[in-house]
Amino acid sequence: MTELVRLTGVSKRYETTGPPALDEVSVEVGTGAAVAVMGPSGSGKSTLLNLVGGLDRPTSGTVEVAGEDLGRLSEKRLAVFRRTHVGIVFQFFHLLDDLTVRDNVLLPAQLAGVPPRTARARATELMDALGLGEKANAYPARLSGGQRQRVAIARALVNRPALLLADEPTGAVDARTGAQVTEILRELNRDGQTLLLVTHDRAMADRCAGRVVELSDGRVVASTPAGVSS
Ligand SMILES: Nc1ncnc2c1ncn2[C@@H]1O[C@H](COP(=O)(O)OP(=O)(O)O)[C@@H](O)[C@H]1O
Ligand SMILES: [Mg+2]
Repeated sequence: MTELVRLTGVSKRYETTGPPALDEVSVEVGTGAAVAVMGPSGSGKSTLLNLVGGLDRPTSGTVEVAGEDLGRLSEKRLAVFRRTHVGIVFQFFHLLDDLTVRDNVLLPAQLAGVPPRTARARATELMDALGLGEKANAYPARLSGGQRQRVAIARALVNRPALLLADEPTGAVDARTGAQVTEILRELNRDGQTLLLVTHDRAMADRCAGRVVELSDGRVVASTPAGVSS
């Protein structure tokens, strides 16, 4: 299996004093794999995800995704990387309230310059697959938490990213909805989608991921097959 993501000795400091948010972290995610990142609040999980997603840069070490060394990309090329290689799902959805479900899903495709017909066909396919077909013209405010997270997943997938990143995607929904989101991510990975998932939920990690990386104070303290509690 080739590695889609490779972090090598990655440290991230937000401030010049005090301990770093990430401290010499090395993690790999193979193409087609699903890796869950767990750890207490403040342990660096979101920082790690943001570096892999090209939303931020490491202070030292290298972050390689799909063969690109993200730390070496210009801002412009990093923006292109984000649009084409990764899709990100957040805890609080981050949907645009003034856009319909369809337009939220279409947005990354429009930003990437995908021809409108192609983009609309892809958006329709995803909305149907995620059970949102009836909601295409609705606004996010009218949706349940689970529906919003499904819109966010569709939006993250519209450009067919090699890598799907999810930062506590069940953190703001009820247990039943969380179970649905878990199943969606599990099926996506089964169909070949590479997944890097941050979660507090051990059951979700065990169900979705093949491997669990545990962070504590910015360091990797364990990397074990999913289903094996440490
Ligand atoms: N933008 C930021 N500016 C300054 N400190 C930050 C920033 N983001 C995160 N941190 C700090 O970095 C550490 C790791 O945070 P984070 O990656 O968000 O952890 P987690 O997602 O595991 O809760 C925490 O101490 C947090 O306060
Ligand atoms: Mg976080």
